[in-house]
Amino acid sequence: MRPGTLQLPALPPLALYVHLPWCLKKCPYCDFNSHEMQPSAMPEQRYLDALRADLEAALPLVWGREVHSIFIGGGTPSLFSPQGIDRLLSDVRARVKLAADAEITLEANPGTFEKDRFKAFRAAGVTRLSVGVQSFNDGFLRALGRVHDSRQAIAAVEEAAASFDTFNLDLMYALPGQTLEQLEQDVTQALALMPPHLSIYHLTIEPNTYFAKFPPVTPPEDLAYAMLDRITEMTAATGLERYEVSAYAKPGHRCWHNWNYWQFGDYLGIGAGAHSKISFPHRVVRQVRKREPKLYMDNALAGHAIAQDDEVARSDLPFEFMLNALRLREGFALQDFRDRTGLPLSAIEKPLQEAQAKGLIERDLVRVRPTERGFDFLSDLQGLFLS
Ligand SMILES: C[S@@+](CC[C@H](N)C(=O)[O-])C[C@H]1O[C@@H](n2cnc3c(N)ncnc32)[C@H](O)[C@@H]1O
Ligand code: SF4
Repeated sequence: MRPGTLQLPALPPLALYVHLPWCLKKCPYCDFNSHEMQPSAMPEQRYLDALRADLEAALPLVWGREVHSIFIGGGTPSLFSPQGIDRLLSDVRARVKLAADAEITLEANPGTFEKDRFKAFRAAGVTRLSVGVQSFNDGFLRALGRVHDSRQAIAAVEEAAASFDTFNLDLMYALPGQTLEQLEQDVTQALALMPPHLSIYHLTIEPNTYFAKFPPVTPPEDLAYAMLDRITEMTAATGLERYEVSAYAKPGHRCWHNWNYWQFGDYLGIGAGAHSKISFPHRVVRQVRKREPKLYMDNALAGHAIAQDDEVARSDLPFEFMLNALRLREGFALQDFRDRTGLPLSAIEKPLQEAQAKGLIERDLVRVRPTERGFDFLSDLQGLFLS
């Protein structure tokens, strides 16, 4: 490797992301790399073989580094058998140094047969479940193309609480035709289940989805803002802190894996379409794996799972860092900017001054934090750091 132009004084913490790409049914709003598949037809063993080969081929990039968290995402990872997840985690443990207190999250959908596996996922080593509920209203669940109803969602969250010390519940808001009262009902039901961590996303109409082709009528912007205000009030009243734009947690229950993304930490992503960001002393590299599951398996098993491998341009690093760090209520330490981009603070002094003059950030000699206004106009704030 020729020397890069950056000077990273230390490498950031490292996380592992594992992508499992299949779902029972494709939701009309979803642009994740997920593909419809009947569980009986799922090539579980072959995919696990491919993941192992993928990880082995990637090891030289992260040699000797400790892995602090694993996130098994999708798709619907809970379609995999507990034995399959157990094998995956054994394969990982045998190849990388996993921190003793590593957080291991698995994304689960609230289908009935999946709920009955939650305890077995725990026994396989998963420490945290992330349950994708989206809404507790059967009408909205149907409109969102979900395969579960609200009764199943409640049962799944109760089972997650019984099986795990910590778990996350995903909701979406600003749903087609949703009123403020209906949003309040969803949040009230979610809070009644006392989740230690809640993620609430504004429904976005993503390109190349069914909803992009046949757009539903979603609430106007001012109503969506009013919904967000209600969410923030209602969650705060039950002791959940909004620590990131879409994430709310009880003390001690923040998601370490996502926290690491937002702090511009490193992650190795294995599996179909998975993204990686890996730092070296003089460069930061991004990789993407082959996206289509069959193509991914064939290529990973032959030792070349990677579709794209690029060095992040020096001029792109400030914006990439801010895209993540400014999502956090606590913002970032100036030292972390230096450590993780390898750039001097002078590289961001001008946009920082502009952001401060516009009331979008506050800062002292150590940290930079988005203000309330900065949180409300986040993309404008992040845009100031574009090269
Ligand atoms: C990787 S996805 C899927 C997890 C799981 N398969 C599920 O659907 O429950 C993680 C979360 O992203 C959110 N999400 C997905 N598509 C979205 C969209 N278009 N707009 C807003 N949130 C979205 C959902 O809350 C979802 O639970
Ligand atoms: S179940 Fe989750 S990953 Fe699968 S299509 Fe629906 S939102 Fe996407």
